[in-house]
Amino acid sequence: MKKVILKNGIAVPAVGQGTWKTGDIPDRREQEIAALRTGIEQGMTLIDTAEMYGSGKSESLVGEAIAPYDRERLFIVSKVLPQNAGRKAMRRSCEESLKRLKTEYLDLYLYHWRGNIPLSETVECMQELKNSGLIREWGVSNFTTDDMHELEALAYSENCTAVQNLYHIGSRGAEFSLKPYLKTRGTAFMAYCPLAVNGSLRSGITENTVLMQIAEAHSATVQQIMLAWAIRDGNTIAIPKSSSQKHTVENALAAEITLSDEELRMIDSEFPTPDRELPLDVE
Ligand SMILES: NC(=O)c1ccc[n+]([C@@H]2O[C@H](COP(=O)([O-])OP(=O)(O)OC[C@H]3O[C@@H](n4cnc5c(N)ncnc54)[C@H](OP(=O)(O)O)[C@@H]3O)[C@@H](O)[C@H]2O)c1
Repeated sequence: MKKVILKNGIAVPAVGQGTWKTGDIPDRREQEIAALRTGIEQGMTLIDTAEMYGSGKSESLVGEAIAPYDRERLFIVSKVLPQNAGRKAMRRSCEESLKRLKTEYLDLYLYHWRGNIPLSETVECMQELKNSGLIREWGVSNFTTDDMHELEALAYSENCTAVQNLYHIGSRGAEFSLKPYLKTRGTAFMAYCPLAVNGSLRSGITENTVLMQIAEAHSATVQQIMLAWAIRDGNTIAIPKSSSQKHTVENALAAEITLSDEELRMIDSEFPTPDRELPLDVE
């Protein structure tokens, strides 16, 4: 499993596990837990969730899935909703996430997207949670490069460990300025929706003949090629969501695939990198 080294020196798997929409349907619970456990056993020990997902149901499911494992082996990420990301509610939000996850700390706590609370207040609250040990690191999500410049002007901004945005072969907006900016600061990038189920430019990717040809050359699926492509720079963690053990194993194996320069050029000609700043792509 390829790794990404975070600012604090911790190595995390380059392919982790998303959990949006898991825990919503009781009949699927056992299957979703089994898929997450398969992923952990395959080395995808980073699990991404949020208080928003199923209003806590996803965190509760993750809590059950991770219970048998040594907590120190795992890297658990959750997110605070914008309306809770201030002095009034953030500590309580975090404590409730911890309770649902049945853990004493989060490895990474993300500000899910920007709302009306001043960014400086959110950052101060994140820092207080870090100082009190409830979270090890904090970061942001759905931030533009301009948002990052605004963050940079604030105290403690250097502690922002990761930025999580939508990123896949058909949605490369983050490459224009955000990804280079993060790389120079040692801030990790987390690619959500790496399998392009969301984002404005998603159609036709899985049927693309060039991707199918590259997949065949690696005895892989197009989805595995999409993941191998997403993590190619060594600073990106892809967090595909899978509720099937078969997909989960495929996703872990994708982290072993290295695309050649020629294959990367072929992908660029099918899905060009942007030549200007694009609006943030979200689901
Ligand atoms: N920060 C944010 O605002 C934000 C927004 C959206 C998502 N996220 C995070 O990012 C994660 C990933 O995004 P996402 O769940 O929207 O989309 P995604 O991971 O791009 O796609 C998930 C879909 O792909 C399927 N899939 C998974 N592995 C596959 C494989 N190897 N081959 C074929 N199909 C496969 C899944 O089906 P099965 O379940 O049947 O395997 C599911 O339908 C979320 O779960 C969440 O944790 C964050």
